[in-house]
Amino acid sequence: MTPTSSASDPGLARRLGLTERVFAGAKSRRLVRVVEDALALVEDKLAAELSFADGFATTTGRYLYEAGGKRVRPMLALLTAQLGDGVTPDVVEGATALELTHLGSLYHDDVMDSADVRRGVPSAHSVWGNNVAILTGDLLFSRASQIMARHGERAMRLQADTFERLVLGQLHETVGPPAGADPVAHYLGVLADKTGSLIAAAAQAGVIFSNGPAELEAPMTRFGEAAGVAFQLLDDVIDLSADPDETGKVPGTDLRAGVPTMPYLLLGQRSDAASVDLRARIDDGVARIADGANTDVLDRPLADLREHAATDATRALAHRWSTDAITALDPLPDGPVREALTRFAQAVADRSS
Ligand code: IPE
Ligand code: IPE
Ligand code: MG
Ligand code: MG
Repeated sequence: MTPTSSASDPGLARRLGLTERVFAGAKSRRLVRVVEDALALVEDKLAAELSFADGFATTTGRYLYEAGGKRVRPMLALLTAQLGDGVTPDVVEGATALELTHLGSLYHDDVMDSADVRRGVPSAHSVWGNNVAILTGDLLFSRASQIMARHGERAMRLQADTFERLVLGQLHETVGPPAGADPVAHYLGVLADKTGSLIAAAAQAGVIFSNGPAELEAPMTRFGEAAGVAFQLLDDVIDLSADPDETGKVPGTDLRAGVPTMPYLLLGQRSDAASVDLRARIDDGVARIADGANTDVLDRPLADLREHAATDATRALAHRWSTDAITALDPLPDGPVREALTRFAQAVADRSS
């Protein structure tokens, strides 16, 4: 087997970076081992589940899994499972199903966003075309449902309800706000649905699948949802990052595809001449790209947006959502789990990959 180092595998480096931050607390020494061992079990389960009757489907289905990923959702489920019986085979299955749902959503998302790169490799649709990418995503959703079905109606309902919200979030992002609606409020709803829903489901699944205390389910769901919005707000900031090696994505993918992200929307709330001018330059670039111009016409405006106060304001907003997530932890007893969840909420709102 070829040895892997975090330097040669940026996906692994990103995952380890998150683990280091979440378990930096004094109380975490034992917990980090428990969660790392459990993440290895999730990894094995993912590898086992990513096999289909058709060899080509197995190749396309494993493609983005093998490219890396931070495993944010499994990590959260494994952490909240500590509030119940800990890491049981059921918890590992639930965490695996949610990661497969996330993975399937990435195949579809890259088609919708015309994204060329994902997890540091060419996106699936750039390799095999849109149809194969969409059908592969569908296969992964099927497999996630099959796993959840082994765990009864409650697990299936969690999966189905979460998936419905995720899809509605993507739909509402696509169609934009209804006439007269506040675009920022609309977009916060999009973030909660497309990303908060699945991260909330991970936090809730940890409690459910570990037979944790029923009264902690709602607080953990609130925690996951708020942390998920913070996580996605930072994703919007990362979309402006100049460093594709660190992010594994092409800078400005969302805006170049005409997807308005939070820095752009907050820019639109400003009436000073420089902000109005920058917004006009971005709109002009997006329109020219839609007419066939090279996407690099947006290089300069996107670099300016990265340095603009609207991007700092997006970071500040992420911190507020992170603080809300931490407040949701109030009913939890003090100890390593609460400490790690607090650091998790801080890390997702202050990340660069
Ligand atoms: C990317 O999620 C899509 C979003 C919901 C922002 P992640 O940033 O968790 O992606 P991976 O799994 O680490 O690649
Ligand atoms: C992804 O949102 C959300 C889902 C896949 C449900 P983005 O489009 O903002 O995520 P990235 O930046 O491509 O990872
Ligand atoms: Mg995208
Ligand atoms: Mg998208």
